Amino acid sequence: MRLETPRALKVEHDALHDTLRRATKESGALGAAAVTVAELLHPHFVKEEEYALPPLGLLGELARGQVTPEMSSVLALTDRLKAELDNMLAEHKEIVAALAELSAAATESGKEEYVEFAQALTLHAQAEEEVTYPAAVLVGEFVRKSLNVD
Ligand SMILES: [Fe+2]
Ligand SMILES: [Fe+2]
Repeated sequence: MRLETPRALKVEHDALHDTLRRATKESGALGAAAVTVAELLHPHFVKEEEYALPPLGLLGELARGQVTPEMSSVLALTDRLKAELDNMLAEHKEIVAALAELSAAATESGKEEYVEFAQALTLHAQAEEEVTYPAAVLVGEFVRKSLNVD
């Protein structure tokens, strides 16, 4: 079955990406700091959209008590997320550290917009650690239990 990232989460990722892309076009230390963030963030977002976010597309149905055998296809994704979780969290640490540099450079050049961006992306990472990733793991656990698969 086709597993789709909830639209609101995809839109949030795209918006963060767009602002970062603009920041990379800035001159000097700010632009350089943004390029560093982008190099860390891009592969991270790709992985999230591959296996961390699509499982959340099942939440609505699962919450309504609808479990179908085709949902077992989510297990490949949630197993991968569980296996990669420590790496994902380590990547967040690197991203957040790079964002602190970006924020400092943005303050230095009076570009409040990118200070706010750094805060938003840091909070995004925290929300993923506290809500998004655990929810995706739980989707897998719930489907596995409900369908009685190993
Ligand atoms: Fe993300
Ligand atoms: Fe993330």
